[in-house]
Amino acid sequence: MLNIKNIIAHMIAEKVDTLTVDELMDILEYPPNPDLGDVALPCFKLSRILKKSPVDIANELAETLPKSEYIDRIESTSGYLNFFVNRDIFIKETIDEILNKRAAYGSTNIGNGGNIVIDYSAPNIAKPFHIGHLRSTSIGNALYNIFEFTGYNCVGVNHLGDWGTQFGKLIVAYKRWGSKERVEKYQIKELMDIYVKYHEEAEKDPSLDDEARAWFTKMERGDTEALELWQWFKDISLKEFSRIYDLLDIKFDSYAGESFYNDKMDAIVDELKEKDLLIESEGALMVDLDEYNMPPCLILKRDGSTLYATRDITAAIYRKNTYDFDKCIYVTSAGQSLHFKQWFKVIELMGYDWADRLVHVPFGTISIGGEKMATRAGKVILLEDVLNEAIEKTLSIIEEKNPDLEDKEEIARQIGVGAVIFSDLSNNRIKDISFSWEEILNFDGETGPYVQYTHARACSVLSKADNKVDFSFDSSLITTKEEYNLAKRLSLFPATVIEAMEDLEPSIITRYLVDLAQDFNRFYHNHSILNVEDENIRKGRLALTQATKITLENGLKLIGLKAPERV
Ligand code: ARG
Repeated sequence: MLNIKNIIAHMIAEKVDTLTVDELMDILEYPPNPDLGDVALPCFKLSRILKKSPVDIANELAETLPKSEYIDRIESTSGYLNFFVNRDIFIKETIDEILNKRAAYGSTNIGNGGNIVIDYSAPNIAKPFHIGHLRSTSIGNALYNIFEFTGYNCVGVNHLGDWGTQFGKLIVAYKRWGSKERVEKYQIKELMDIYVKYHEEAEKDPSLDDEARAWFTKMERGDTEALELWQWFKDISLKEFSRIYDLLDIKFDSYAGESFYNDKMDAIVDELKEKDLLIESEGALMVDLDEYNMPPCLILKRDGSTLYATRDITAAIYRKNTYDFDKCIYVTSAGQSLHFKQWFKVIELMGYDWADRLVHVPFGTISIGGEKMATRAGKVILLEDVLNEAIEKTLSIIEEKNPDLEDKEEIARQIGVGAVIFSDLSNNRIKDISFSWEEILNFDGETGPYVQYTHARACSVLSKADNKVDFSFDSSLITTKEEYNLAKRLSLFPATVIEAMEDLEPSIITRYLVDLAQDFNRFYHNHSILNVEDENIRKGRLALTQATKITLENGLKLIGLKAPERV
């Protein structure tokens, strides 16, 4: 992999032995103004370690650094060391690598086949799949692809919320106000309606909660009637969820949800007892975490029923035994951070040295008009509605601009869904999002459709050249600013993927794709690709175009988007 920062970091590390290549990589910068070099070393960051002024450091290094075929010249300017890359070699190697590796460009084997469990999406059954679940689903799916691309072996688990007191409530609600006909007709919508009604009624009559608890206890003890109802609710929910996963084109390796651990929790509760970790309070059993400045982690309620944390602890141990993971990653809203901190601590207290391999990846919440979404109050935006709106909007744009497009329904799905996912992955994951129809259906500017459209534009150029791209281009003819900037951006893709993997941050890829698309479009608008007299210049530009097409496609796939060739 040609990484210019890396090459320079090695050169400097040879001279400055107090700094490692990795540390130098962090210090090196890409100057915003390329006239100041392609890479710069801000020497003030070395001042303290080397006990010299930045100007002296820059001057000295400029004199003494070893020569490299990749670097034309090195200049020392007011405490900065500026490196000017040999563009010929750099462009040639970058493009050659992309054209050779194609779909594998950007991939690495850092992970060495280690197993990564990713726990994502995980909606609660009998509740609608709302826009809030999109975040966990799209971030988790992108992380899955990114880890696979960096040499890990991923196991994607949909830890469905299909167990817990809320199903006791639902059974009570169904028995009081539900009917088979209505549930069959209205599916999840009806389940949600009776669930909302339950909460209204329980406020007036708290004895409903006792009844609900009793039903959940029955479920935990294997009562046939309770389990049959539960299974029915679950089947209805899964039917709806899989319709949505199909639209999103997202698959899981395992659907072991919370209920999967029902028969595995007793052993864990026993283990906690044996390890002397449980204390009793008002009949409930919990792990005291006072020492760690956290509230206790509740393991069993007074009536003996289990909790969310009990199931998470059991699931983690099961996964460790089953998948022997390097990391087990949980993608949920930041609202659950304390929950994860608590039970990660419990795993540590149980003496499992792999507790530090459990990773919570939190994300910001989605609000509507400044208010939190709340299923109970019926205040939600359904993901399926958003996806369908986006698909319809795309279809109407296609009807208007390109009505003869082949396979337009499928392409409309790819772009409409792409717009929604891309928008979700556009900001740092921890940032709160305020949902807006306008924003999510905006296809201009820095959006998924813009990147997909740029990819299709590159494809169209290539197909006009009968896709004849050969390696015999002469990189010394690729001389313009736009071409060089594009090649530079292309070369950054592998390092960008690694950064996204290390930071667990798909938005790094999203941002890169927008930058790459912009660089390509600048090149495209300023230069002819096909109509140039010099055959060799044409070859070089076609190679650049092909390299862009490959990199855009690889990047889009990583974040879960398709790259249609025509739009
Ligand atoms: N079902 C939960 C929710 O909707 C998310 C589950 C996340 N995974 C886990 N192992 N706790 O909030």
